[in-house]
Amino acid sequence: MAEEAAAEGTLTVTDSRTGKTYELPIVDGAIRTLDLRQIKTGPGDFGLMGYDPAFQNTASCRSSITFIDGDKGILRYRGYPIEGLAARHSFLEVAQLLLNGELPTTDQHLDWVGEITNHTFIHESIKKFIDGFHHDAHPMGMLVSAVGALSTFYPEAKQIHDPEVRHRQIVRLIAKMPTLAAFAYRHAMGLYYAYPDDELSYAGNFLNMMWRATELKYHPDPVLEHALDVLLILHADHEQNCSTSTMRLVGSSQADPYSAMSAACAALYGPLHGGANEQVLRMLRSIGSVANIPDYIRRVKEGEFRLMGFGHRVYKNFDPRAQLIKRVAEEVFEVTGRSPLLDIALEIEKIALEDDYFVNHKLYPNVDFYSGIIYLAMGIPVEMFPVLFAIGRTPGWLAHWQEGLLDSEQKIGRPRQLYVGPDLRHLGS
Ligand code: CMC
Repeated sequence: MAEEAAAEGTLTVTDSRTGKTYELPIVDGAIRTLDLRQIKTGPGDFGLMGYDPAFQNTASCRSSITFIDGDKGILRYRGYPIEGLAARHSFLEVAQLLLNGELPTTDQHLDWVGEITNHTFIHESIKKFIDGFHHDAHPMGMLVSAVGALSTFYPEAKQIHDPEVRHRQIVRLIAKMPTLAAFAYRHAMGLYYAYPDDELSYAGNFLNMMWRATELKYHPDPVLEHALDVLLILHADHEQNCSTSTMRLVGSSQADPYSAMSAACAALYGPLHGGANEQVLRMLRSIGSVANIPDYIRRVKEGEFRLMGFGHRVYKNFDPRAQLIKRVAEEVFEVTGRSPLLDIALEIEKIALEDDYFVNHKLYPNVDFYSGIIYLAMGIPVEMFPVLFAIGRTPGWLAHWQEGLLDSEQKIGRPRQLYVGPDLRHLGS
């Protein structure tokens, strides 16, 4: 992690309650909210706190993994622009970059691919566990449970301060996520479980576990394989989003990484986060045709519901991932044929980008607006969309989990609250 810079200045604060003035150091463009604690009205006062529901302006950590400039639409992993990484590197190389801080040499990468492919199988008992789910169980619910259950298979994972043990769990999680995801899908479809094929790429193997039928060897379409790999790269990290913050928070209690990642998956499941791609598809289907779009937009503007796949807490101009995905979509449609839902999506985008409501609220298509249409064209059912997001986000979650553990400034996460309930009350006799 980057060394803490010297104070670049101070913030002078005068408390009108006492008339006292304080100098708060500014480092890396932030004050430490703990420095506010000295601001008291008297000896019995706890001290001033910051109040920030939803952490909209509170940095919870210092991180050197991912940089985002939301106004300029910039996303970089470890300093490298997302555009270059998506064009020139594979998902597993990007995973190494996120976890280790550097792109791997050829030998380092070959070793890493060897490690990952050695761990793609899951314990046979996990299959029984998946079998226990109802046939229409949501695959994200199955994933949350199965990832958490992995901790019971690898009790050594509790040794979170041992770098070798940590590395083994990181490898296992990245390797097994596609297997768990594909098995959840095949269970829902009533299909036999297709085992991993270690001769295929990470993305190719996932397609194999999803689609292999009677053939002895599955050969993924290279365009679809590449598109999936790019989509995984685009989802690999996004700094302190809801699920990554969850991963860090659970990790801060020194829980094992499987338990922490199960919680991160649960956070991702929500429709405002990784569940949005699923909601986009449902929305496009419910709109049904281009002719119905103006009425739908009117209802969004009247506050009846949100336009799914639009808006972002950080990006206020454009989401660079959405721009890259649009290109991937064209490549995929060359193979699969164009989805009629794409026409609806393009028309929504066109109208929204010119409409005062969306312009004034700085609402632009985000990564999830297009990813769902691509997955659908590839034949992946909507319930699996957040699962694919989770596979992509796994290296990011693990990189942040590890960074948090190694950060000497971190402790167990424990936000404060402003208590606004009743004062002491007495029970009647
Ligand atoms: N459609 C219509 N209005 C919206 C939308 C939307 N998609 N998003 C925000 N607004 C409006 C909102 O009603 C509010 O209006 P007003 O100020 O007039 O009350 C204003 O914009 C600010 O909204 P907010 O909820 O305070 O913004 P936020 O930064 O907390 O929320 C968001 C960010 C992504 C949760 C939100 O834009 C949203 O709900 N989008 C739809 C869900 C979605 O696509 N999520 C995927 C995010 S990208 C993938 C990921 O990283 O998870």
